[in-house]
Amino acid sequence: MQVIDTIAGFRKALDAERAEGKTVGLVPTMGALHAGHASLIDAARATCDVVALTLFVNPLQFGPNEDLAKYPRPFEADVVLATAHGADFVLHPSVEEMYGPNGTRTTIHVAEVSEGMEGAVRPGHFDGVATVVAKLFNAAGPCRAFFGEKDYQQLQVVTQLVRDLSFPVEIVPCPIVREADGLALSSRNVYLSPEDRAAATVLHRALQAGAADLDHAVEVITDIVNHEPRATLDYAEAVVTDHETRLLVAAKFGTTRLLDNIGVTH
Ligand code: PAJ
Repeated sequence: MQVIDTIAGFRKALDAERAEGKTVGLVPTMGALHAGHASLIDAARATCDVVALTLFVNPLQFGPNEDLAKYPRPFEADVVLATAHGADFVLHPSVEEMYGPNGTRTTIHVAEVSEGMEGAVRPGHFDGVATVVAKLFNAAGPCRAFFGEKDYQQLQVVTQLVRDLSFPVEIVPCPIVREADGLALSSRNVYLSPEDRAAATVLHRALQAGAADLDHAVEVITDIVNHEPRATLDYAEAVVTDHETRLLVAAKFGTTRLLDNIGVTH
């Protein structure tokens, strides 16, 4: 596996692979890799000739009072995990390589799907995500890009971004990977105290109860999360599409914000 720290070097490596007729699978991440990220690498490995992972903690998507400085950056362990799952290339750029010495003058706003839920709680967050993902797509070139349903609203944002700006990218949604007790894997789970870690299982339980009573799902989820004294609910919502109802929840445990969601097909 080759670690590359420049955009130009990454593009050149993937152009060379495509020139040999190979397909590219792209897995964008902020590192602190866990089994959820590994499942995206596995999905890319299973369906593409070449697998490219990106490891970049993107300052643009963090608010002023968020956890940018303390976000975990276990680079060596990330390389070990990426290698073990068969990644071929890792892009690991500095902030300056990505945004230049003076920062970016251009940002991307994806209207409507960026509003509400995470967009309401974290103003500017999805502009930061859309901007870095657009840059990563430009760096990677034509590919299939693997994203987790764990960040369901982010998945809608990047899908709309590809459609609107005609990126030569096919977005591949991947299911949520969970701990045995139902907690969705997240790089932020390491922040939880043992008490909060135990309490955090309430999110998946609440979603399952909501899925079992779809007509009252939002009330059911709200009640269950509010009954856990260690949890502070940010929102519980139901999003109805053609083929499913997606139930989404976000809550704080201490200073750690966790997200989860579940899809119920019609
Ligand atoms: P990050 O939080 O590192 O997540 C990288 C990818 O892993 C995302 O597509 C996310 O949905 C997926 N993922 C995280 N936990 C998962 C789980 N338990 N099961 C399945 N997939 C999971 O999302 C980001 O980084 C950033 O916003 C990024 C897209 C890289 C842009 O900076």
